[in-house]
Amino acid sequence: MNANTNSASPSEPLGSDSNLDSKLSNPVELIDPVDWEARYQAGDTPWNEGYAAPALTEFLSRHPILGEVLVPGSGPGHDVRALATHGARVTGLDLSSSAIALARSYPPAGSEHYEQGNLFELPRTWNDRFDWVFEHTCFCAIPPALRAEYVKAIGAILKPGGHFFAIFYLNPSALSGPPHGSTREEIASLFDPCLGLMEEWVPSGAFEGREGREICQLWRKGGLVKSPR
Ligand SMILES: C[S@@+](CC[C@H](N)C(=O)[O-])C[C@H]1O[C@@H](n2cnc3c(N)ncnc32)[C@H](O)[C@@H]1O
Repeated sequence: MNANTNSASPSEPLGSDSNLDSKLSNPVELIDPVDWEARYQAGDTPWNEGYAAPALTEFLSRHPILGEVLVPGSGPGHDVRALATHGARVTGLDLSSSAIALARSYPPAGSEHYEQGNLFELPRTWNDRFDWVFEHTCFCAIPPALRAEYVKAIGAILKPGGHFFAIFYLNPSALSGPPHGSTREEIASLFDPCLGLMEEWVPSGAFEGREGREICQLWRKGGLVKSPR
């Protein structure tokens, strides 16, 4: 795979140059060895199951996710459309222009749209903007060295009181990532300073091969309030 530098400008940058000064306050060399665009162009996308993550579908059946929602690393957009079907205004964000084109090729499900861009270079205008961020196979896709920057990005764009719902792929079978595995302890140490954990559970449904390897977590920005599960 080709080297891919995430700090390169996307071909359709988010917003104007002037609001891209939101780059990380302590910039790191954002190198991702995976060329995600090349993967989509080659059709080498084994993560594309053709439908939304079962744990998201299950959560939506009993808990509303409404307001402004961001799905980072949205890929083909199945999760975006599931959220939009339930009434959220959803932004799907992906580094790959081909992923964005693929997502846009599906019939609209509701108030969803897609933007090509880098999670690590979000416009400052996105700060405190989102009621929810939904994570599914973006955290495990980025190099583990970038996880602290991932947490900073999510913490910045959530509104105070906003929620982060994540399906973490803890224990992938691949010997070398992506997907990169993680532990509950690592996730807690990364997110705890920024968000408060409300609930966690092992989802009852998962894509084939991921059963028992995922954990769902619901986090909140700014203090703990018990969720109405
Ligand atoms: C394993 S795929 C999962 C896609 C989607 N969540 C799904 O389950 O079908 C990871 C996705 O994250 C995107 N991605 C990787 N790094 C990113 C970044 N820094 N900013 C935005 N998207 C990124 C990739 O292009 C890819 O579509």
